[in-house]
Amino acid sequence: MDRISSAAEFQTACDTLRMRGKTIGLVPTMGALHDGHRQLIKLAREQCDVVAVSIFVNPLQFDNPIDLEKYPRSIEDDLEVASTLGVDVVFAPLETEMHPRPILFHLEVDGLSEVLEGSSRPGHFGGVVTVVAKLFILAGRCRAYFGEKDFQQLAIVSRMVKEMHFPVQIVPVPIVRDERGLALSSRNLRLTSEQLNSALSLSRSLFAAREAIRRGEKNTDKIEQLMAQELGREIDGIAQADLAVLDYALVVDPLTLMRPDRIEGTVRLLVAARIGDVRLIDNVGA
Ligand code: PAF
Repeated sequence: MDRISSAAEFQTACDTLRMRGKTIGLVPTMGALHDGHRQLIKLAREQCDVVAVSIFVNPLQFDNPIDLEKYPRSIEDDLEVASTLGVDVVFAPLETEMHPRPILFHLEVDGLSEVLEGSSRPGHFGGVVTVVAKLFILAGRCRAYFGEKDFQQLAIVSRMVKEMHFPVQIVPVPIVRDERGLALSSRNLRLTSEQLNSALSLSRSLFAAREAIRRGEKNTDKIEQLMAQELGREIDGIAQADLAVLDYALVVDPLTLMRPDRIEGTVRLLVAARIGDVRLIDNVGA
């Protein structure tokens, strides 16, 4: 496995591989690789000749300097995970390499970035697309793997590729759930066993809403109310302090993230809730 820290070298490596007829699968990450990343890498491994994983904690997508400072960094463990999964290239640049100072150019996103996760994190998605666009320019023609867990990020990056004509095929990777339905997330590690029970209410509310839509419910308000009720519902005698506190429960169009008045075609159901001081998100298609 090659470890590259220079942007120019990464670009040359990708160009050379493509000239030799190899297809490239790019998995953009901020490191601290977990099971969700493993899924992305495994799928890239199955579908591409060469797998490149980028590891870069992107300061542009943090609105809070303390969050940036606290973000887990574990490059040696990450290299171990990447090598075990058969990754060919790890691109791990320094901040000055990825974003030479002063930064004069950055991308912004209209509309799609101001709702859902973006409403509480101004500038976050602008920071995401700026770094992802740079990674796409360096990697060139490739497949790029993004998890459906961060559905808004996936929708925004997919739209960017279409609108900016990047020669990149976005591959959405389904959410991985445990046997009880809980979406895997590194944040689950911060929950007590009571809180983990309570966290199940996120997926239960989504599954109940999906079932209601399958049975013919088309009223968006009713579906959102159903999700909100399920989220606040006590399951298995969960203590009051551990119950999920709703942030949002919404029905959106999967491409525009706009809320339809009635559910006619395919929609995405999204929930965000706080359990103690841990904020969780989840979503399903319906
Ligand atoms: O999902 C992430 O880890 C990040 O937002 C990404 C796509 C690697 C950009 O920094």
